[in-house]
Amino acid sequence: MGNEEMMSISKKRGFLYPSFEIYSGVAGFYDYGPLGGILKNNIMNLWRKYYVAREGFYEIEAPTIMPRETLKASGHVDNFTDPMTQCTECHEVYRADHIIEAAINKEVEGLPDEELTKIIEDNNIVCENCEGKLSPVRSYNLMFKTEIGVSGKQIGYMRPETAQGIFIAFKRISRFYKDKLPFGIVQLGKSYRNELSPRQGVIRLREFTQAEAEIFVDPSDKSHRYYKNIEDYELELYSQEEQLNDKKPVRLTVKDAIESNVVSSEMLVYQLVLAREFLKDLGIPNEAIRFRQHLPDEMAHYAIDCWDAEVKTDQYGWVEIIGIADRTDFDLKSHIKHSKEDLSVFKEYDTPKKVVKTTPSFNMKKFGPTFKGDSPKAKEILENTNPEVIIDSFKTNGTYKFNIGDNEYEIDDSFITFETKEEEIRGERIVPHVIEPSYGIDRIIYSTLLHSYTEDVSDEGEKRAYLKIPAIIAPIKVAILPLVNKEPLVDIAKDIEITLRENNMISSFDGSGTIGRRYARADEIGVPFAVTVDYDTIDDKKVTIRNRDTFEQKRVAIRRLPIIIKELVEGNITFEELEE
Ligand code: ATP
Ligand code: GLY
Repeated sequence: MGNEEMMSISKKRGFLYPSFEIYSGVAGFYDYGPLGGILKNNIMNLWRKYYVAREGFYEIEAPTIMPRETLKASGHVDNFTDPMTQCTECHEVYRADHIIEAAINKEVEGLPDEELTKIIEDNNIVCENCEGKLSPVRSYNLMFKTEIGVSGKQIGYMRPETAQGIFIAFKRISRFYKDKLPFGIVQLGKSYRNELSPRQGVIRLREFTQAEAEIFVDPSDKSHRYYKNIEDYELELYSQEEQLNDKKPVRLTVKDAIESNVVSSEMLVYQLVLAREFLKDLGIPNEAIRFRQHLPDEMAHYAIDCWDAEVKTDQYGWVEIIGIADRTDFDLKSHIKHSKEDLSVFKEYDTPKKVVKTTPSFNMKKFGPTFKGDSPKAKEILENTNPEVIIDSFKTNGTYKFNIGDNEYEIDDSFITFETKEEEIRGERIVPHVIEPSYGIDRIIYSTLLHSYTEDVSDEGEKRAYLKIPAIIAPIKVAILPLVNKEPLVDIAKDIEITLRENNMISSFDGSGTIGRRYARADEIGVPFAVTVDYDTIDDKKVTIRNRDTFEQKRVAIRRLPIIIKELVEGNITFEELEE
């Protein structure tokens, strides 16, 4: 697949390179260079096309620094940990589950620290650096801690996921959507995790970008209104069952996955399909994508079902790039408990329901002499007892008995009477469940570049290595090349470049070297189309467009270029369909 070759092009030609290089760098940080920055934005904008434009989920932007209490409520202060072990000789730090998985090839993520320590001892796993003994495993919180303000009194953390900003703003969001479930909100932005041993380039960063959607649904209805359209869609699924029995992933239709309960809901499986389509648009081939279900021990503290979209890499094996989880009402309920705010929505019934309501009325004159100091408690207990139970007891025994502490009391219907009324209720308050696709943009960019790396023979008969980046996300859409670097060809070419840029298409003029060399330079960085200006252009006002992937060439009028390139980039026409 060419990890090394791709990374070499990436560094040399300005896609990706380690940060702080002139100060020897710091593990876990990468820069996006002049081409990488545009590629990243193009990928994020394609993501917005799926989730904001098509799905109709609005986008918010919340702060990246969060006060401690918010992340205490979400469970991150107590649970967002990784297991750490350290070499007792050279002091190198390792993520315990990773060093075990590398040594004995067994998935152990999520096992308790003591079990991981035992596995290290039983299998004699030692430091990869110096073969020194490894320390007992202990949990290490991954969040970067900071102080808000100068007094040092308010602790803050860099957010470890973008999702929490959405949950915390839920009250306003729900009002925005007028409480009408289901609704979704997205957020794209930086997240921070002080990863223990980031040795895998952009796969494991300490500052990375997520694109997350939080879709709020009725807990009693996780059906999806477009389910019928995706029933026959096929997915490569690696369920818990297959993993636990050492079997291979299976290819299932969405319908089979739902009917056999492999995926827990239509809402969740719909997100798997969207992720699959998005990755297809990025040019990642079918055989390099699978969905792996989290094992019970591996599941995050908030999830009941979770599937990772994994992409195959030559360097790191199958890598999780998107996590798709059913987070239930965990987050909203935790924030309700800690903030004491009502984060429920009013669920209106299609048709109002008639209910019979029985309300008690108390004869307080009898309470004082009978219950004395226990009077208020007695009233509270009777109010909270199902009226049917008391009425039933009156009917069969003539009295009802109950205890307050060690005191037993017996009452009859002179203490309490009941009134029964029919009421119409329009709905009820519920706390929604959350379906969450969480895309790691950096891992997606890495996978896109990796799978776009191609080696073949150029139209000039020479070996070429290039990035076959889909036109829709390619940073530069067109290379403008005068056949020779002389006037008036250069002037015409530069005019074309300006016109295309004015039409919002990034194009680059290249006049140096042979035309073959210039095609190769454009191909290498993934420019999908090249426009050549030759001597005939002076008279016929036409240029030649070349397709990077097929070498096919067509001659078209200069004035048609902006619309032609736009249509080709957006995939509205194919190169073969282009009329000369
Ligand atoms: P891993 O098990 O590899 O540490 P994770 O299960 O912690 O990943 P999630 O918490 O599910 O990852 O995060 C959602 C997405 O965010 C991931 O699918 C991934 O693409 C991205 N992500 C998480 N951690 C990092 C990181 N350290 N560097 C780059 N991307 C990351
Ligand atoms: N929001 C999911 C995660 O970052 O883990």
